[in-house]
Amino acid sequence: MAIIIEKAKAEDAEAILNLTKVCGSETDNLSFGESGIPVSVENEASYIASVENSDTDIFLVARDGKEIVGTGNYTSFPKKRMAHRGEFGISVRKSYWNQGVGTMLMEHILDFAKNVARSEIVSLEVRSDNEAAIHLYRKFGFEKIGTFKGYFKIGEELIDFDIMELFL
Ligand SMILES: CC(C)(COP(=O)(O)OP(=O)(O)OC[C@H]1O[C@@H](n2cnc3c(N)ncnc32)[C@H](O)[C@@H]1OP(=O)(O)O)[C@@H](O)C(=O)NCCC(=O)NCCS
Repeated sequence: MAIIIEKAKAEDAEAILNLTKVCGSETDNLSFGESGIPVSVENEASYIASVENSDTDIFLVARDGKEIVGTGNYTSFPKKRMAHRGEFGISVRKSYWNQGVGTMLMEHILDFAKNVARSEIVSLEVRSDNEAAIHLYRKFGFEKIGTFKGYFKIGEELIDFDIMELFL
């Protein structure tokens, strides 16, 4: 397996939307399930194009050959008094878990956040029982700063999330 991390291209939109359906069906850790995200291919392509040359936001894909097996995105907060901060999301398809793809995505995201976006603080919310993700974030220095009780509701179940932050 030779995984390459690179910026998404507009023509990846359909594969990325399909991947959200796969990842959404494989875990309850994401904000969407098996239907993926309700965005058209055209809108996804325009979003990807809109961040392609951005120095505040980035959208990355992990490729194994031609197949996209994971995604990572970083967004800086646009409001002036929050613009020193950003947040990100990562997702890898299950057949590629525990092979270092998430680590590679994190390295690229944090490098972008620090050296291009010039963010000072990165924050995230993660299901409090998502041990693999929490392990990964702690590996990069993230610390838990609180709990958001009932951050998700899946069926009738309220699900708590850890809030974590990293000073770059
Ligand atoms: C979280 C996720 C992105 C990690 O991706 P990945 O490619 O498996 O990540 P890596 O292989 O680089 O690292 C996983 C690490 O977690 C560790 N890990 C796996 N399961 C674990 C568990 N149950 N408890 C503790 N650590 C665990 C692995 O040993 C590895 O640690 P290491 O790098 O010290 O060896 C992936 O599991 C995923 O997409 N999950 C579903 C979506 C999701 O939860 N996204 C994050 C939402 S906040």
